Amino acid sequence: MNFAGQTVIVIGGTSGINRGIAEAFAASGAKLAVASRSQEKVDDTVAALKAAGAQDAIGAAFDVRDPDAVAAGLKQFHDAYGDFDVLVSGAAGNFPALASEMSVNAFKTVIDIDLMGTIHVMKGAYPFLKRPGASIINISAPQSYLPYEGQAHVCAAKAGVDQITRTLSMEWGVEGIRVNSVVPGFIEGTEGAKRLAPTPDAGEALRRDVPLGRWGQPQDVANACLFLSSDLASYISGTVLAVDGALYQRGSGKFGQMMGEMLRSMKKG
Ligand code: NAP
Ligand code: COA
Repeated sequence: MNFAGQTVIVIGGTSGINRGIAEAFAASGAKLAVASRSQEKVDDTVAALKAAGAQDAIGAAFDVRDPDAVAAGLKQFHDAYGDFDVLVSGAAGNFPALASEMSVNAFKTVIDIDLMGTIHVMKGAYPFLKRPGASIINISAPQSYLPYEGQAHVCAAKAGVDQITRTLSMEWGVEGIRVNSVVPGFIEGTEGAKRLAPTPDAGEALRRDVPLGRWGQPQDVANACLFLSSDLASYISGTVLAVDGALYQRGSGKFGQMMGEMLRSMKKG
């Protein structure tokens, strides 16, 4: 994969899976821009992307819940680089909580970051996307189509993200812009996985639910993003691509139930 000369924007690209995606594009010679709330994480990532081989790397700190800040940050990237070849939107927040125990604001917080954040990022980037040829990838989650106890907020948000993907693949497809979602399975060592499986037992239950029998790695997800943004995928748009070791085929399984049981026992205790 060679992305030399191409501009790749990764929102929420300063840790975990999304940073792995940014590093993979950097290693293939792209110009990178990353954003998240923490200026410190942005600065650290920009330095790492340059070291990984990026043609250039810049960053900005903003919260995807603020549409004006998102639009201003994306304009700053456009001023520096010109039109965007690739946009990855992956900022998200998650915590396990039963719906009955969650405040309205807790539910809304995840909707605001994951779902509203996605549309803020896509609309903010819209004027700056290369036409034809841009590739947008929304980072979704298995919760989009699998119900997990303790994840009503995330399930609702990520299902919405994938419906945005499908709808805008039509609305923006006529302008030559491709829109896809990538659904990581459970990816080892990441914040999201630690929050859902905080103990070794929970981690093992999770791994057992994966037919391929192993945790995913950030590189597994990055490989899918490189492919979807390459010419090899020039006729692929509107897809929701699971990179999950076939997790989906087993459903949310014992793990989804276990999380509910754990949260109910915490409630009693
Ligand atoms: P992570 O390391 O916590 O990454 C989240 C990123 O988003 C960070 O860069 C964070 O940086 C940024 N962010 C969070 N809230 C933000 C906000 N309001 N505005 C702007 N940036 C914000 O998480 P991860 O586990 O790697 O997850 C990355 C993506 O993969 C998410 O979309 C998640 O839903 C998805 N996913 C993860 C897994 C998994 O196993 N981990 C599985 C399926 C799907 P700041 O803190 O600096 O804002
Ligand atoms: N259980 C129940 N409610 C919780 C909670 C938990 N574990 N964690 C936060 N909340 C609630 C808060 O109580 C608050 O509701 P309230 O105002 O009614 O009290 C609401 O959620 C917002 O919390 P706050 O801490 O103010 O939000 P924030 O904007 O500072 O942070 C989060 C957003 C909560 C999503 C935070 O965990 C975060 O920044 N996450 C990013 C990293 C991440 O989640 N990575 C994994 C991605 S898959």
